[in-house]
Amino acid sequence: MKVLITDGLESEAISSLRKAHEVDVQELDPKGLLAAIPRYHALIVRSRTIVSKAVLTQAANLKVVGRAGVGVDNIDVAEATARKIAVVNAPTASTISVAELAIGQMISLLRHLPEADRSVKEGKWEKKKLEGRELFGKTLGLVGSGRIGAEVAKRAQAFGMRVIAHDPYLSRPTAEAFGIRLVEKDAVFREADVVSIHAALTPETRGMVGATEFALMKRGTILVNCARGEIVQEAALADALRSERLAGAAVDVFETEPPAGSPLLSAPNTAFTPHLGASTREAQARAGSIIAEQVLKVLDGRRPEFLVNPDVYG
Ligand code: MLT
Repeated sequence: MKVLITDGLESEAISSLRKAHEVDVQELDPKGLLAAIPRYHALIVRSRTIVSKAVLTQAANLKVVGRAGVGVDNIDVAEATARKIAVVNAPTASTISVAELAIGQMISLLRHLPEADRSVKEGKWEKKKLEGRELFGKTLGLVGSGRIGAEVAKRAQAFGMRVIAHDPYLSRPTAEAFGIRLVEKDAVFREADVVSIHAALTPETRGMVGATEFALMKRGTILVNCARGEIVQEAALADALRSERLAGAAVDVFETEPPAGSPLLSAPNTAFTPHLGASTREAQARAGSIIAEQVLKVLDGRRPEFLVNPDVYG
């Protein structure tokens, strides 16, 4: 069968797909994808390619869309399901990488690392101005605590942090097993010294952190977002930073990527990264091998483990 890969994928994963199928690797723009898709039985993407209703409508032979990563917000899953196209992802591939980045961002903000680097390069030696704060003894508030949130919690606890979380899908016994205290959404913002977002982008989470939530936060709180840009209202975040209600924000993900014109770009006390959460050698190797295996299973008529839309087999 014919497999189309439109975003970067680990070479070993491509080789394993090539052993069984004809594979084309091509970075297509939306028009090119629309023209090409009718020829393919499988499509593998990361977050760059938008698998829209229009694409799926043209996909006469498509059996499976593989997302070499976690979030499937770039895929019209409802349309795929209606067309009996399986959507598979690699939900475990980047867990550790994202958790490590979130912890790194917390320390980076509290110790002013981006500013300190700039200052030394400018020939300054600003020890007093750059005095930081410890993670030890602080409260971490998780917005969403699935696989990644749980790993962030473990690492934060190792630094001596207390962990609270709001997650409507997490049971109290599971939270307790991770040493996490489950609280209402507002309590995360009221009680935390560090708020870290680890939720998927859904209609419920889109824009869920805005002016109301920033108003609940203690002065000096910092925010880390390595999840999805659209969960945080960027204009409200920029205002909260300017008014110094928030002491800092580490942002890996933006409403629009790249974030040209975002109000955040001119806000103070930020640490930006270009959606690097899953960009480690280890996470990319895992994402490649998992997604190749999942797509091969669907093409072989076997049921994959990481099926996002089980209704296709219903
Ligand atoms: C993911 O959802 O897997 C990560 O955000 C990484 C990505 O989108 O490339």
